[in-house]
Amino acid sequence: MKNIEEFKNSIEKDKKALTYLELKQKYLGKEGVLTKALKEILSVEKDKRAFYGKEINLLKNELENIINKKKNEEKSKYSTGEKIDPTAPFDINSNSNEFDNILAQEGSKHPLTKEIEKLLDIFTSMGFDILESRQIDDDYHMFQSLNFPKGHPARDMYDTFRTEDGLVLPAHTSTMQNRALKKFGPPPIAVVLPGRCFRNEATDAGHDHTFHQIEGVYVDKNVSLANMIATIKTYLEKYLETDFDVKIQPAYFPFTEPDCEFVISCPFCKKVGCSTCGHSGWIEIMGCGMIHPNVLREADIDPDIYTGFAWGFGVDRLTMIKLGIEDIRYLRENNLNFLKQF
Ligand code: DAH
Repeated sequence: MKNIEEFKNSIEKDKKALTYLELKQKYLGKEGVLTKALKEILSVEKDKRAFYGKEINLLKNELENIINKKKNEEKSKYSTGEKIDPTAPFDINSNSNEFDNILAQEGSKHPLTKEIEKLLDIFTSMGFDILESRQIDDDYHMFQSLNFPKGHPARDMYDTFRTEDGLVLPAHTSTMQNRALKKFGPPPIAVVLPGRCFRNEATDAGHDHTFHQIEGVYVDKNVSLANMIATIKTYLEKYLETDFDVKIQPAYFPFTEPDCEFVISCPFCKKVGCSTCGHSGWIEIMGCGMIHPNVLREADIDPDIYTGFAWGFGVDRLTMIKLGIEDIRYLRENNLNFLKQF
C-alpha cells in the first residue's frame, strides 16, 4: 500500500505539468495510479481500509475536478482562436513538458545532406554553378532531349515510375541537361545538377528505388576527354581525401559519344581487394562521356563550334564508400540509431 501523502504530492506536481488527457490516463486510466490503489485495498490492514478507501475516493474526486477544469481551459484556448504559431518549434504550442526530453537532444543534418553540401562546396570552388533537378519531369527531358527517340531500346535501362497523366519520376539527373544548357548557354557552361532520382528496382543492399545523383555539365570550345578525366579525378580526390589510379572503360549511353565508365582504384585496399571493391581492387564510380552532338543541337548549341563533357554519379553510393555504410537502404529508413552515428 502506498502512502496517501505520496499520491497527494505526485498529483500536486503533475497537475500543472500534464495536460488533462495525460492526467486522466496517469491516474484514472485502466492502469492508472488511483485505479490501482483502489484495487489494492484488500492488502490494507482491516481497520485502516475504510479510511484508505475514503481518502483515495476524495483524491479521485479532487482530481476529476482538476481534470474538468483543465479540459475546459484547454478547449477554450483553441476554440477562442488563441493564436498559435505553426512555424514555431513544435514545443512552443504545447502546454505540456512531454517534449522536454526530445528537445534536450541536439538534432543533426542527415548524412546525405552533409555529403551533398560538401560535394557542392567542392564544385563551387572549382567554378561550377548549381541547378537543382526536379522530382517530377516529362518524357521530353527524360528521353527525347537526351537522344532517346520514341521506341529506342535504351529507354529500358531507365525503367522508372510514371503518373497517370504521363509524367515521369526522373531515373537520373541527366533529365536536367537540356534545361541547364539552355539556361546557362551560350558556352562556356559549367554547372552541376544535384537531385533525387527514382527507379523501378527490386531493392537490395546496393540498390534502392530512390537515390541521389549529381550530374555535371561542362561545355566550351576545344573541350576534350582529357579535360573530363582531370576534372572528375580532381573533385573525387578532394572529396575522398586520398589519391587513386583511374581507368576509363567503354559503356553505352545515347547522350554521350564516346561513352565512358569512370573507374578508380579502391581507396581502402589500394588494389589488394576488399569487401568495398568486391575484391577486384577497382570501383566503377560513374557514367560519363563527351556530350552527344544531338544533345548540344537540341539545346541550340552548335556542335561544330563547341564540345563538352558530362557525368552523373550516385551520391548515396559515394557516401557509402566514404562513410563505410553497408546498405544503401539505411540512408532512407530514418532510423535514429543509424542517423545518430553521423
Ligand atoms: N545518367 C547516367 C545514369 O544514371 C549516368 C551518366 C552517364 C550521366 C553519362 C552523364 C553521362 O552525364 O554523360 O546511368
